Amino acid sequence: VLADYGLSPTHGFLPDVLPLTRLPDPYYNKWEAVVANLQGLILSKRLRGVVDRLPVLSTIGLEHDAEWRRAYMLLCFMAHGYIWGGDSPSDRLPPPIAVPLLEISAHLEVPPVATYAAVCLWNFKPLFMDEDIDNLENLASLYTFTGATDESWFYLVSIAMEARGAPIIPLMLTAIAAARENDVQEVTRCLGTFAERLDDLTTLLQRMHESCDPHIFYHRIRPFLAGSKNMADAGLPDGVIYEDGSGNETYRQYAGGSNAQSSLIQFFDIVLGIQHRPTGEKPSQAQETEREGRPPAPKHNFIMEMRQYMPGPHARFLDHVQTVANIRDFVEQNKHDRPLSVAYDACLAMLRALRDKHIAIVTRYIVLPSREVRARSRSPAATRRKLNLATAASRPQPQGIAYDARGAAAEQEAAAAKKGGNLKGTGGTALIAFLKQARDETGEPAIEDW
Ligand code: HEM
Ligand code: ALA
Repeated sequence: VLADYGLSPTHGFLPDVLPLTRLPDPYYNKWEAVVANLQGLILSKRLRGVVDRLPVLSTIGLEHDAEWRRAYMLLCFMAHGYIWGGDSPSDRLPPPIAVPLLEISAHLEVPPVATYAAVCLWNFKPLFMDEDIDNLENLASLYTFTGATDESWFYLVSIAMEARGAPIIPLMLTAIAAARENDVQEVTRCLGTFAERLDDLTTLLQRMHESCDPHIFYHRIRPFLAGSKNMADAGLPDGVIYEDGSGNETYRQYAGGSNAQSSLIQFFDIVLGIQHRPTGEKPSQAQETEREGRPPAPKHNFIMEMRQYMPGPHARFLDHVQTVANIRDFVEQNKHDRPLSVAYDACLAMLRALRDKHIAIVTRYIVLPSREVRARSRSPAATRRKLNLATAASRPQPQGIAYDARGAAAEQEAAAAKKGGNLKGTGGTALIAFLKQARDETGEPAIEDW
C-alpha cells in the first residue's frame, strides 16, 4: 500500500532507492557539469551566461524515477541559482532550464521550483552505506548553493528527521486499523511509541544549532530558497517567466522552499486529528460560520496550499489518510480509558513542544538577524556611510557591511527589513504569527485540560 503512494516502508517520504549521484546517460553531462560547479559559477556571476548558452535538452534520456528526481533536483538548483545569483533577481528562466524543468515537474507532479523535495528529500547521500540515514553523522548533501557546511546541515537535519520519523507512518496506520477493531490496548501502545519518537525528533531539530550559523543562514543561504510569489520586496514584483517556447508565456508565481512542504509533519497532524485554520482565524470563528449555516468562505490556508508543493503521490497519501483518520474520535469515545487519553494527549504535547522549539529557531535564524540589519541601518555609522556614498558617488560600495558579498535577494530583503517591512517566511507566511497559531492548534484536540 505504501509503495502505491511512493512511500518507502523504511525511509518514509525519502526515496527507497537512494538519490543518484549522476545521471547515467552521458547526454546530460552538461547539466551535471553546471551543477558540479554551481558555487563557483554563482560566485563569479557566470552562471547566467553559461545557462543561456546550454542546449535545450530533451527528457527522452530519463528512464527510472530516480533519474527524473535527480534531473528535477539539478534543474531546481540551476533555476534558483539563475534567479537569485546575480546583482538583481532575474524574472525569466531561459529555455535550457524552463523547457525540461516544466516537463519533469509535470512528470513528477511537483511544481517547477526548488521545493523541499528538490533540496532535501532527493539531495542527500549516506556517508557509509552500511549505516542508517536517520543518523546525522552519516549524511551528506549532494548539492548546495553556497558550499557552506551550514547549508548542508540545514538540509540534513530535515533528512535525519524524515528518516527517524519514517517508522511512525506504519506504526500509526496500525493504530488506525486497531481503532477500527476497537483494540484500545494496541492504540494506546502505538500512541505511546509515537510520543517517544516525537521527542526524538525534537532532539534532532535542536541539533540545527550545532552546525548552522544564523547569520550565514539568514544572509547567504536563505535568499536562494526564495520563491517568486509575493516577492515584490525582493525585486520580483510579477513573478518569473518560464521561457518554454510556447509563445504564450506569462508570469508564474510559486512559493519558496519551506519545511511546511514536509509530508511527514502533515501526516502527524492528520493522524492525530489536528486542524489548522487559515492564519488569523480563531476556533470560535469557524464554529460561528457553521452555526449560521453558511458554507465557510474559502480562505487561504497555507498548510493546505503546501500539499501542492509535495510530490503528487505523497499529497495523495495524505488525502487518503485524512479520509481514514479515526484516532481522535476513538480516543474521545473511550474517554474513560485513562491510559489511552494520556497517551493521546502526550502525542499532542510532544508535537506542540516540537513546534515550540521550531519557533525558537525561527526567532534566532530569521527574526533576530533581520532586526540587526534594521538596527545597523539606523545607526550613525550607517548614516555616515550613506552620506559618504552620496557625496562620492563614484566610489565603490561601502566596505564594512558584513553582508556585501551576498546575492541580490539578500540585499533586497535587507532593504525591505530596513523599511520595517513585513517579515515573511520563504513560504510566504507572516512567520511568527503563523507558526504560533499552528502550535496552539496542535493542543486544541486534547482530551484533558493541560
Ligand atoms: C514552517 C523557518 C527548520 C518544519 C516554517 C516557516 C518558517 C520556517 C519561516 C513558516 C513558513 C514559511 O513562510 O516559510 C525555519 C528555519 C529553520 C527551519 C529558519 C532552520 C534554520 C525546520 C526543520 C523542520 C521544520 C528542520 C523539520 C521538521 C517546519 C514545518 C513548518 C515550517 C512543519 C510548517 C508550520 C507547522 O507545521 O508548524 N519554518 N524552519 N522547519 N517549518 Fe521550519
Ligand atoms: N522557510 C524558511 C525561511 O523562511 C526556510 O527561511
